[in-house]
Amino acid sequence: MSLKRVFVTYRLPEDILRPLSGICDLEVWTGTKPMTPPELLSSICDSDGIICLLTDEITRSLLENQEKLNFISSMSVGVDHIDVAAATNRNIPVGNTPGVLAETTADLAFGLLLSAARRIPEADKFVREGQWLSDMPWSPDFFLGKDVHGATLGVVGLGETGTAVARRGKAFGMRVLGWNRTQKKDVEHAELVQLDELLAESDYVSIHIARTSETLLFFNHERIMSMKKGAILINTARGGIVDETSLANALKIGHLAAAGMDVFEAEPLLPESKLLNLKNVVFSPHIGSATSLTRKRMAELAVENAVAVIAGRPMPFCVNPEVYRSR
Ligand code: GLV
Repeated sequence: MSLKRVFVTYRLPEDILRPLSGICDLEVWTGTKPMTPPELLSSICDSDGIICLLTDEITRSLLENQEKLNFISSMSVGVDHIDVAAATNRNIPVGNTPGVLAETTADLAFGLLLSAARRIPEADKFVREGQWLSDMPWSPDFFLGKDVHGATLGVVGLGETGTAVARRGKAFGMRVLGWNRTQKKDVEHAELVQLDELLAESDYVSIHIARTSETLLFFNHERIMSMKKGAILINTARGGIVDETSLANALKIGHLAAAGMDVFEAEPLLPESKLLNLKNVVFSPHIGSATSLTRKRMAELAVENAVAVIAGRPMPFCVNPEVYRSR
């Protein structure tokens, strides 16, 4: 019997891919840029399975042309780049990497919060560019920011990452409010409140909801303007959840003091983005899970999911386990 063909859309290290060697016919994309949709289509059309990244858009039309494809394993916790409903219709299990990146992403969310509150990137630029030499060396109103300790943090979405951010908030001496789209029973580190109360009372709002058709532009003009005046918004969840035009306006008119943004409607962020001209936005380029250890764990889980399918077992980390019930 011929080996199953597995296509990997990124050059993952050999030691990570080792569990697949010998049990499948492995092909690894060697390009240095994300695959284009035609490249993705032509590379996976004869594959039994793919291991992909969040930059690989696995659309309904791409799946419609696949007769052979038997699994999709994404090296990400979010799967909004995959049409999961279309995969489920074709009985294709979709794997992700839960449980290993929440703490790392929470660190970045908190880093952005502190950076935005205390204007650290702006201050860094000021020193680097020699402006300190040409200005007052120190004054009582020099680089004033906002206190984090004693302030109120609102966590929107109390999954693994939101809970980890709430715990950090408590450790920093903050009052922590939390809201979740579905009802939660045991909420740790946060006081559960209604969303409007959270938005009205929080000095910092950190977003931790998944991007779905229901959360697109969830932070629209109305919700952003219902945030407390002078608050700071942090998004390390997914682009498209925050309406960036409304956010830019709120920052420009001083309704919000600052924002910390790791994820964007379009990635990479386009040069014409209205956010780019604002000094009170701290940016990072979608690096929530970017530590060596966490990326290694994510890759290992993605491979573990693939190995399971090849061995005829259900994927251990599957977002559409219902595909197994209909088999
Ligand atoms: C990162 O954004 C992920 O979904 O893994």
